[in-house]
Amino acid sequence: MKKIHSLTGMIDLLGQKDNESSQSDKIFNTEKSLIKIFKNYSLNEIRTPALEDEQLFNRSVGESSDIVNKELYSFQDKNEKTISLRPEGTAGVVRSIIEKKLENDFHRLWYLGPMWRYERPQKGRYRQFNQAGVELLGYKEGLAELEMISMVISINAELNIKNPKIKINHLGDNESKESFCNDLKTFLEPHAKNLDKRDVDRLNKNPLRVLDSKSMDTQKVLKSAPKISDYISQDSLNMLETVKETFPNENIEIDHSLVRGLDYYTGFIFEAVSEDLGAQDAYLGGGRYDQLFEELGGKKLPAIGMAIGIERLAEISKNTSSRQTLISFMILSDKIQQKAYKIAHDLRSLNKDIVFEVSLGEGSLKSKLRRANKDKASYAIILGDEELASETILLKSLQEDNSDQKKLTLNEIKKFISSI
Ligand code: HAM
Repeated sequence: MKKIHSLTGMIDLLGQKDNESSQSDKIFNTEKSLIKIFKNYSLNEIRTPALEDEQLFNRSVGESSDIVNKELYSFQDKNEKTISLRPEGTAGVVRSIIEKKLENDFHRLWYLGPMWRYERPQKGRYRQFNQAGVELLGYKEGLAELEMISMVISINAELNIKNPKIKINHLGDNESKESFCNDLKTFLEPHAKNLDKRDVDRLNKNPLRVLDSKSMDTQKVLKSAPKISDYISQDSLNMLETVKETFPNENIEIDHSLVRGLDYYTGFIFEAVSEDLGAQDAYLGGGRYDQLFEELGGKKLPAIGMAIGIERLAEISKNTSSRQTLISFMILSDKIQQKAYKIAHDLRSLNKDIVFEVSLGEGSLKSKLRRANKDKASYAIILGDEELASETILLKSLQEDNSDQKKLTLNEIKKFISSI
């Protein structure tokens, strides 16, 4: 029978006890660390559906973005409604708060889950990937910006990221953004023949996106183009300086060519990048979106947020996970299975900080021990007919420098497990 393969750009993750540096284990640990940080920052979780009305993304992420133009997974459901797999999390969060009529309050939210973009897969770029996101809703420009950058710094520290760089920029208010875009377009149009083909297309759809071009030719032309810093107000420039001054020990760079690939941003924007990632060097990005609530039919509500690419963050995290002690419990005879299992169940409940694996019939004692060694278990608890009859167990150390084996009473093993 012909085998069925996974789709291009979509990966399976399978945890392995004996290989903690496997991609899956790194991803699971990264998610755990991020959730810990989110709770430390007093955020509440929000979960929104993976599928939304396509219109939600057209009206938020925006018609001029690559995400909406080329990358949306959209299709008709059985009722011929056009729905999309979410390419990002912000739009769904905003839709949900508007729908629940919760715009009169402040919200500090986090989420985690898969997103889909029909991109050309390459290192660090997938068609299904995982994002953790944070949205601070109801907070106007000021402290919320500092809170976001503080969180980025905590992420870098907790995940032990080497040489992280945080790039920040300000898009000004709507008026200054519009007048900058107009002037940039007027300046670039006569140079169209010197621009990369893709940038000519961007120029027509969203001139700001040209600033993000990787083409040397385009960057050469941009050298003498109008600068966003000449358009934004002194207050906006001060905001950027305030962020730098608040965190003087961090590598924070004001980068006026920084633009984001989504249309909803209005003021302060930022990205964290690492040279260790290669071409796709941003492992998180975000910014302020003060108009999005109104654009989606809600009340005016200022907001700022960010999303972290889990696969990219896991790739550069130097965090070595804290291994828990693994105990492997082996039942030697079919006749005593139920009674032995009951003992395992009781022992397991004594210490929630250890990993307690009961062999569920994986072959002979020899193969059970081989497996426990492969999984780097610290101890094996062995229980056969004889031990059960005398209310004892065998405790075997599997540590490299110690292969002791002792007979212990049930009380003794209980004490031992509680003490680990
Ligand atoms: P974004 O910059 O499109 O922002 O995505 C955030 C992060 O997701 C990127 O920095 C990257 O690490 C990761 N990412 C994006 N696309 C892929 C992909 N194809 N494969 C792997 N990783 C990827 C947003 O999504 C906004 N919703 C962020 C935000 C929240 N702004 C305000 N609130």
